Amino acid sequence: MDAFSLLKADHRKVEKLFSQLESASGQAKMRVFEQIKTELELHTHIEEKFFYPALEKPKQTHELTLEAYEEHDVVKKLLQQMSRAKSATEEWEAQGKVLQENVEHHVEEEENELFPKAEAALSEEDIETLGEQMEAEKERKQRTASSKKKSSNKSAAKSKSASTAPKRARASKSGSKSTGSKRSKKSTKKSRR
Ligand SMILES: [Fe+2]
Repeated sequence: MDAFSLLKADHRKVEKLFSQLESASGQAKMRVFEQIKTELELHTHIEEKFFYPALEKPKQTHELTLEAYEEHDVVKKLLQQMSRAKSATEEWEAQGKVLQENVEHHVEEEENELFPKAEAALSEEDIETLGEQMEAEKERKQRTASSKKKSSNKSAAKSKSASTAPKRARASKSGSKSTGSKRSKKSTKKSRR
């Protein structure tokens, strides 16, 4: 997937989540917010790791890219503030609105200004490669996030099954004893002859 298609797909996903946030309430609202946070953190990460560094040098995209980094910082700060809340207070709702407005502005600026200029500044091959790099990084991050979840589940399961481990060790020891006794029988036969 080319870089623009990938980033635009991310933008559409976050827009949907923001409209879900508006209609949700209670703990469901907090869960939607967690999804928005995960998506935005992943999205800003891949942009800052691959896309923006490629756009910092070309003259056409230099200024807009620096602006985009700053807009990301504002979004990240709001996400951090909001994630400390346990429930949706009036203040939290207000922060949510500011977050949404910031993201919408940022998305608009990227799609209407930065992307067309980037398309002119980069080669088709660059755009394709950047897309592949960002896609791979996204998958890698998502894999480590899900394996972290799994390993915490496993460690809970391990502590439950720990009592069966010594039994297995004892069984293998008794096995080696039996072969030892066979050998000793042979040696007694030999000694008889
Ligand atoms: Fe961005």
